[in-house]
Formats: sequence, C-alpha cells, structure tokens
Amino acid sequence: MIDGHGRNINKLRLSVGESCNLSCVYCVDKIGGHQRSHDHLTVEEMIDLVRILKRHGGIEKVRITGGEPLLFPGIEQLIREIARLGIENIGLTTNAQQLKKRVDDLKNSGLQKINVSLDSLKPAVFRRLARGGRLERTCEGIEAAVKTGLQVKINTVVLKGENEEELNDILAYALFLKSEVRFLELMKMGPLYEKETALFVPMKTILAKIGKCYSYHPIPAETDSTAIRFRVPGGTFGIIANESNPFCATCSRLRLTSTGKLIGCLSQPVGIPIKHLLKAPQPEFELKSLLSQAIGYKRTVAFKGSQIGMSAIGG
Ligand code: 5AD
Repeated sequence: MIDGHGRNINKLRLSVGESCNLSCVYCVDKIGGHQRSHDHLTVEEMIDLVRILKRHGGIEKVRITGGEPLLFPGIEQLIREIARLGIENIGLTTNAQQLKKRVDDLKNSGLQKINVSLDSLKPAVFRRLARGGRLERTCEGIEAAVKTGLQVKINTVVLKGENEEELNDILAYALFLKSEVRFLELMKMGPLYEKETALFVPMKTILAKIGKCYSYHPIPAETDSTAIRFRVPGGTFGIIANESNPFCATCSRLRLTSTGKLIGCLSQPVGIPIKHLLKAPQPEFELKSLLSQAIGYKRTVAFKGSQIGMSAIGG
C-alpha cells in the first residue's frame, strides 16, 4: 500500500508476544518487567491475518519479533505457513539464547534471515545489560545460524560507558563470521521515554570509534532501509541512527501486535484492532480503512520516543 507520502508500506513486523528470557536495561525497567497482554492471537489467527494483509494490504515481507520469538511454541508452524502464503522474505529477530538447538528447524520451516541482539562480547557487561542469559549461548546461536546459511545480522545498541569501547571488537567478530553488524543509537522507548539518559551515543561518535581501527566508506542501502551502511576491509557494517538520521520519510513498516492490533509508527504506538477481520466474509472492504488509520499515525520527520518498550512492539 502506498501512503500519502509515497511510502510503500510492504513490510510487516509480527510480534508473537511480549515474553522474553532477558530484561535488557533499555527495554524494561526491571527484571521480568515485560508488559503482558491477555487475549493473544493463536498461531492460526496470526497466519490468517498475515494472509489477509498479504492478499489485500500489499504486505510482501514479514519479520517475526517479540519479546523473544523463540519462546513462542508455534514458531516453526508460523514460519512454515507464512512461507506457504507465498511470502518469500521471512526474517526473525532474537536474542539467540535458544537459537543453537532450534536453528535447523527454523531454517527448514522457511526462515531466511535472522537478526540477533548482541550488545557485548564481555560476559560481565553482557549480563549487566541483558540482566540474564549467557553470552556464550548467544554467540553459539549466531555461529550455528551462520553455519546453516541463514543471512545473519547482529544488532548492537551502543551505550555510553558500557559497550562503546568494544565496537571494533564486535565489528571484528561480525566480519569474521561474514555477518553485518548494525550499531543502533539508543531510542527513548519504554523505561527511557521522556527521560534524560547519559547512555546515548550519537552516530558521529560511533563512526569516530570505528575510524580508529578501520577505514570506512559509505555504500548505498535499500531505499527503505533503516540503516546507513559502510564498507570496511573485509565486509560491511551499518548504523541505525534514529536520532542523528531519522528514516521516517522512507519507513515502509507496519506492525501487528500479538493481540491483533496494527501499529503504524513506533513513536505513536496507537493500536488499530483488526482481529475481527477474521470473521468478516470479505475482510478487504474494511481492511483498507483500518490500514489507512494505522498508517496515518506514521510520522514523516523524526522518531520522538514512545512510552511502550520494544518488547511490546518488536521494533
Ligand atoms: N533503543 C535501541 N534499540 C533497542 N532495541 C530494543 N530496545 C531498544 C532501544 N530502546 C533493539 C534490540 C533489538 C532490536 C529489535 O531493537 O536490541 O536488537
């Protein structure tokens, strides 16, 4: 669907639930502080809503998010059925704590791309930031995913005084694995909403740190990409700079929450319920206006933060 600003809204981020086995400091205010919704969609309902959104809403790509999607029991079935709908581009974002043992099944179900959150290569820093889990499990998961031939990207949220001095180590690790790391500027979501934070590191500082070890050159990214990409000897990396370089003008994402609500914008996470379309004989009639409402909330200029944390929306 092309919106009033010429954006082709064709990417769906499907959150399968808020539960997570980690409690990252930028995501929730306390250990286990994930919002819990009731009335979650079943796997079948998720599949049917994706079918409607593909057939009548122009959705071409799906990324499965959470919370932590690998905690969702029907994940392989979900991927398989989404692939069967003819969606050729299916990705998943995970903290990879349980990835190693699941990766073959995920790949066999039709998954193509995986993004893994990895904020530190130092066990103590990893645990301080994630407030749970084990670094080695995430690394084993990443390496197993690379081995299966999945396209693997690493997401690192850059935090002042925490991991900012290990960006080159994380980049070296990603290059070694022939994976692309994307460094994320901290977004004021959830516990950080409307708060002053000393943790924020801007893109120019990130680049200055990379520049100490690598010569880097900008390279083109897809027009609706959230990342600015750079080439370095041996590979590439990206920066997702919500503050320094907002990408709202080309944002092609729509989100479906695990309770069946469409969300157009991370900054204005107003959920438009669409679960009732499952019972409509001709859902396409109503879908158009529901989509317009959700997309109407999309900003055009800059991300402004949001009260809701990432675990409730999925990114
Ligand atoms: N700022 C930046 N990135 C965040 N993520 C979660 N919360 C934030 C935040 N406040 C990241 C996760 C994950 C991706 C979906 O978003 O680390 O990799």
